[in-house]
Amino acid sequence: MEYLNFAVELARNAGDVLKHYMRGEKHVELKGRANLVTAADKEAEALIISRIRERYPHHSILAEESGASGPAGSSESGAGKWIIDPLDGTTNFAHQYPFFCVSVGYEEAGRVLCGAVYDPWRDEMFSGARGIGSFMNGERLRVSDAELLRSALIMTGFPYGFRDKIRTAMAQFEAFLVDSQAVRRGGSAALDMCYTALGRVDGFWEMDLLPWDTAAGLVIVEEAGGRVTDFSGQPFSIYGKQLLVSNGRIHEEMVEVLRKCQMGI
Ligand code: IPD
Ligand code: CA
Ligand code: CA
Repeated sequence: MEYLNFAVELARNAGDVLKHYMRGEKHVELKGRANLVTAADKEAEALIISRIRERYPHHSILAEESGASGPAGSSESGAGKWIIDPLDGTTNFAHQYPFFCVSVGYEEAGRVLCGAVYDPWRDEMFSGARGIGSFMNGERLRVSDAELLRSALIMTGFPYGFRDKIRTAMAQFEAFLVDSQAVRRGGSAALDMCYTALGRVDGFWEMDLLPWDTAAGLVIVEEAGGRVTDFSGQPFSIYGKQLLVSNGRIHEEMVEVLRKCQMGI
């Protein structure tokens, strides 16, 4: 609980930084062809890192804008590792499209134990810890009970490098458009995972995400009864390349859609 409460506190404090920049000048810079970073990303990350350093100097940190820091190998040896995305959904944020969040996950011995995802625009705090459950503003989360893909609303996202994989990305998108009720592209993978946990959507898939996009969301959605695997239904790793999330009931159907795309059927 100590780490969960701290993750929630960090996400809320960083969310206040995003709120401060939300409607004004954002100082947008390009990290790649379409990959943005703003003053809010940097300031929110610096705040989170300094708070962790102060409270848990022996823990390590993996954060999107500054990379890995702190004692090497500490997570494997049992000490903590904080995995941070100070602003997930930077493109949305830069355009004032209201779908972005802060994501803070806590890992020990290679397993994410708890995490918090905060959407400052809606003031929605998602949190979860192994064996305790997951919550949104204190209310327990439960995935949807949709039984069939054809009646499911699902989400996806496209990584910045998707231009090299445009055929695969479009084949998957087309197949899910045809087989589900509808597909949404939110622009914040951490929120996409939390929306599955909350039952606002029934599933989500994306390739080439990074650990800070998925660490907190993983615990939140699993503790809400959701299933998280790679595209073939095998165990998911936040360090892996494929993410498939669902309410569990439609999971096999989603795996089948992705399998057919892989085989070009
Ligand atoms: C991105 C968002 C987006 C996803 C990209 C991520 P960022 O993170 O989660 O939804 O499609 O793959 O990189 O850059 O906004 O933190
Ligand atoms: Ca991200
Ligand atoms: Ca980010």
